[in-house]
Amino acid sequence: MIDSIKSQLDNTLEKIDLTISEDHYSGKVRENFYLDDKIVMITSDRVSAFDHILGTIPFKGQILNEIACFWFNKTKDIVPNHFISSPDEQVLITKKAKTLPVEVIVRQYITGSLWREYKQGINGQYGFMLPADLKENQEFNSPILTPSTKADYGLHDEPISREKIINSLVDESIYKKAEKYALQLFDAGQKWANKMGLILVDTKYEFGIYNNELIVIDEIHTPDSSRYWVKDEYQDRFNKGIGQKMLDKENIRKWLIEQGFQGEGTPPELTDDIRILLSQKYMELYKKLLGEDFNPSIGNVQSRIKKNLSLIDLIK
Ligand SMILES: Nc1ncnc2c1ncn2[C@@H]1O[C@H](COP(=O)(O)OP(=O)(O)O)[C@@H](O)[C@H]1O
Ligand SMILES: [Mg+2]
Repeated sequence: MIDSIKSQLDNTLEKIDLTISEDHYSGKVRENFYLDDKIVMITSDRVSAFDHILGTIPFKGQILNEIACFWFNKTKDIVPNHFISSPDEQVLITKKAKTLPVEVIVRQYITGSLWREYKQGINGQYGFMLPADLKENQEFNSPILTPSTKADYGLHDEPISREKIINSLVDESIYKKAEKYALQLFDAGQKWANKMGLILVDTKYEFGIYNNELIVIDEIHTPDSSRYWVKDEYQDRFNKGIGQKMLDKENIRKWLIEQGFQGEGTPPELTDDIRILLSQKYMELYKKLLGEDFNPSIGNVQSRIKKNLSLIDLIK
């Protein structure tokens, strides 16, 4: 597999050079082309952390998109979602929704940015107090919701309380439903991950309105939107006070912090070694979570996407 990863280093999808519609949004990771009531969402191989784009990781787009499809399919009877079809390993056709201006984050453990804030004495920013004397990576009795606003590129999403959301951003009945959906999805995600020897630590959901109905949009339970730890190792590592074995985006945050980057200024350039390592982590997660081998589509990603989209007449 390492040879496929190396050979893919120069074949990844960084920028997209094709037009499906004039109405186009280039996000940190995805490229959206808006049609009347649909979106053609192309998942690039870009990796972002601390709200900066850092470079590309071989096969990341394929892994992300396939994991998202897996979850949309698995949870479609619990919560309606935006999935319509996937004409390519890195493309989704979705329902175009009117997005809620908040991200709904669900956490079962205190870690990552929440831990970094808590350690500095920051508490109460979500409208409720976290218990005192928590240790890093400690489990909560039940999942907590730590919503944030959706910030523009380069700016950080800000914590927000439920009260502020329903007073100024989202209708209370809609937000209540989003909270309920988020907890239901998280529960399904935790149960499945547990069966596969993983812990779904925390995750982020986005919601939107389509045909007057609240649906979950974006991506769900992918390694970009979620943290996954290895279950068997959790307790021992926690007792010893050492970091958890993680199979998600926190790996790149950790690498950046080791290079002295904490989110401000210009991020360091990714080395091939870290690009390869991250590709392996993403593949390891794919295999563990889905219980099947990852089948990489080797070769130029953009040409493949063009071919697949022209087959369904989305491009000429
Ligand atoms: N079904 C949908 N309808 C409308 N917008 C969506 C839908 N699904 C995802 N999005 C938006 O598409 C974008 C996906 O691209 P991404 O690279 O994640 O961008 P960002 O940098 O804004 O996070 C996000 O802004 C997300 O909110
Ligand atoms: Mg995003």
